[in-house]
Amino acid sequence: MVLSIKMKRDIEEIKKIVIEEIKKLTDSKNLEALKIKYLGRKGELTEVLRSLKDLSLEERREIGPLAQKLKKELEKLFTEKLKTLPTARQVKAIDITKPARKLETGHLHPLTKIEEEIRQIFLSLNFSVVEGPEMEDEYHNFDALNIPKDHPARDAWDTFWLKPENQKLLLRTHTSPMQIRYMEAHEPPFQIIVPGRVFRFEATDASHETNFSQMEGLMVGEDISLANFKFIIEKFLKKLFGEKTDFEFRPSYYPFVEPGVDVYMKWNNRWLEVAGSGMVHPEVFRSVGYDPYKWQGFAFGFGINRLAMIKYKIPDIRLFYNGDLRFIKQF
Ligand code: DAH
Repeated sequence: MVLSIKMKRDIEEIKKIVIEEIKKLTDSKNLEALKIKYLGRKGELTEVLRSLKDLSLEERREIGPLAQKLKKELEKLFTEKLKTLPTARQVKAIDITKPARKLETGHLHPLTKIEEEIRQIFLSLNFSVVEGPEMEDEYHNFDALNIPKDHPARDAWDTFWLKPENQKLLLRTHTSPMQIRYMEAHEPPFQIIVPGRVFRFEATDASHETNFSQMEGLMVGEDISLANFKFIIEKFLKKLFGEKTDFEFRPSYYPFVEPGVDVYMKWNNRWLEVAGSGMVHPEVFRSVGYDPYKWQGFAFGFGINRLAMIKYKIPDIRLFYNGDLRFIKQF
């Protein structure tokens, strides 16, 4: 008899407490804890239900339904309360005391950075910046540059030909075809640079890639000489690398210049060719309808990747496009 009275009291007590407690709750975690405290495996109401077996049949008939009813009521209360509470996620989202998540901002690729700097330098030297197509035809990439079909000089530019082959379209092997395109559409005097991507069907190593960037330059006027060329190149390299920069001019050969000049700079303790250049060949002027007796000019083609390798001390040209974030994130 004593036990059954105690149990009746417990049931009423539990009901009162839980209703009070549940009102105060503001988050689902504490709601769950409260539920466990009363309805869990060792919960207070669960204990009551369990000790029903110690009662007489008569007492059980009286107390049992009370306890079961309370259990149902509480379960309903818990479920309803849960619906009114913000989810764990929402709680997190509105916790204004938490430090903000760090935002990852992007940045420019080293090739984009150096190209931007190069453009600014040449703009300051009164050059214009123009761009041209990456898909070229044989005429602009080769013939008009005095590199006729079957001429051995073509071997210097291993070419990605595009299909169908009879159209003779290709991925430009250098930015020089823009010399032709620009001259076809403009009259001298002028001075331009042409940055852009070029493509070579060849084996790669630390200083050769199948896909890289060049910057063509072309200045044409009535008395442009090799002295003007040397002045511009020296100005450019000193602006890009500083006054004490070490570079060399060496005699070279390209079908579209005469004389031809290569520009070399120090990289990884050796001399690296950074540009081909020279005085524009009369045949090139003829192919665009300029009178070679009236106009002279110089042209150059820098390897932008190689300039970047020297400026940023990059030991291998293949790092630019291999997609390794450990490399990219250093810039
Ligand atoms: N187009 C040449 C190359 O890709 C580089 C070059 C040489 C460009 C001489 C020039 C030039 O404008 O005059 O190898």
